[in-house]
Amino acid sequence: MRIVVLVSGSGTNLQAIIDAVASGELNVEIAAVGSDRVGTYGVERARAAGIDTFEVNFKDFAARAEWDAALLSAVQRYEPDVVVSAGFMRIVAPSFIDAFPNRYVNTHPALLPSFPGAHGVRDALAYGVKVTGCTVHYADAGVDTGPIIAQAAVAVQAGDTEETLHERIKVEERRLLVATLGELARSR
Ligand code: GRF
Repeated sequence: MRIVVLVSGSGTNLQAIIDAVASGELNVEIAAVGSDRVGTYGVERARAAGIDTFEVNFKDFAARAEWDAALLSAVQRYEPDVVVSAGFMRIVAPSFIDAFPNRYVNTHPALLPSFPGAHGVRDALAYGVKVTGCTVHYADAGVDTGPIIAQAAVAVQAGDTEETLHERIKVEERRLLVATLGELARSR
């Protein structure tokens, strides 16, 4: 299974995939890593691992549709079986979803359909839930919507901040993402 991984930030989920591939735990080929901005640590991690990278900088495009087209062609060049959004902080266009039907996988740090959006951890904490977690799902053109593949629960602890809770969620998120990709690879 060839994958392209999309990142916007620190790329710890990406690193978990890279490490799992290197150790033989995960049988996928990381064809490339792409970002919607320049200079992310995620892209740096990919370069350090010798993986092809591309940056389709959102700010370089005058119109949203031009960025959509550039992202799609950058990804399609690698002919991936599955595209993984691992901390990729952009909603892709319907044309992207249509190009990868049930092949665009996203990870989100909350138990969807609760707390979608860019602040899933903060919103769960503010609501006062006692259990939250993470979700790996097939993304559609909505905000963190689409069929759920797997979830893991994380208990909220007294005194948790957004940062402490997110760090505990991310431990589960990395494990869940690697395990889910492994299952997808086996089922293909
Ligand atoms: C993850 O929790 C992801 O679900 C969220 O942002 C975080 C990205 O972390 N959207 P990283 O870049 O993989 O370290």
